[in-house]
Amino acid sequence: MHALGIDIGGTGIKAAPVDVATGTLLGERKKIATPRPATPAAVADVVRGLAAEFGWTGVTGATFPGVVTNGTVRTAANVDHAWIGTDAAELFGKSLGTDVTVLNDADAAGVAEMTFGAGKGEQGPVLMLTFGTGIGSALFIGGLLVPNTEFGHIEINGHDAERRASEQAKVLHDMSWAKWAGRVDEYLQHIEALLSPDLIIVGGGISKESHKWVPLLTGLRARIVPAALLNDAGIVGAAMAAAGIATARQP
Ligand code: BGC
Repeated sequence: MHALGIDIGGTGIKAAPVDVATGTLLGERKKIATPRPATPAAVADVVRGLAAEFGWTGVTGATFPGVVTNGTVRTAANVDHAWIGTDAAELFGKSLGTDVTVLNDADAAGVAEMTFGAGKGEQGPVLMLTFGTGIGSALFIGGLLVPNTEFGHIEINGHDAERRASEQAKVLHDMSWAKWAGRVDEYLQHIEALLSPDLIIVGGGISKESHKWVPLLTGLRARIVPAALLNDAGIVGAAMAAAGIATARQP
């Protein structure tokens, strides 16, 4: 089965059609910068434009960088606050003229990694963390997703963790790899104290350069591995959710 996956981030919106049985993209992905301000109407326009570029009218899934319950957005840390309370599934559905499944971005990336990538076959507990504009989290036990965890917002030294350790924080504060890896290490130690995962999968755009920082992480009991699908995991997970595959265990 094929579905269009759309990954809405605080910085970019990416899309590609996906073969959900294999987790592979069926064409080169297209990316458009997230509009500023990232209001519901402005983002819905980009989503419509991306679907049109692929001439897509079929099954479609979209991620959102906030808590999403039953298609409705509940939090918006890195996009316009007008999203809070918006039924994103209905909004995108109207703008595309087809049903759209909407889920949290890190949850989507996690489901894709657990099915096709670094978490395949892992019984867990497994934590997927995405480092980008914010820090997203997806928790799996026995391959099943616990949706809408928000471990990017735990407090460290009086600060929101993602303000200290996201990729955006590295860029904004011009941190060296060593300094930023120290922040990530500190963050992961807090996470480990709370959850004791067996495996931590690190994803997001910065996972492309994992060789520069993952080896610098020390003092953790959990295995730390980079995401195998790199930054395409969100697209693949969105398409899987639209196709009715919402957990890592395929029926
Ligand atoms: C949001 C999460 C999201 C993460 C990554 C955080 O600020 O609260 O819901 O998954 O950023 O986009």
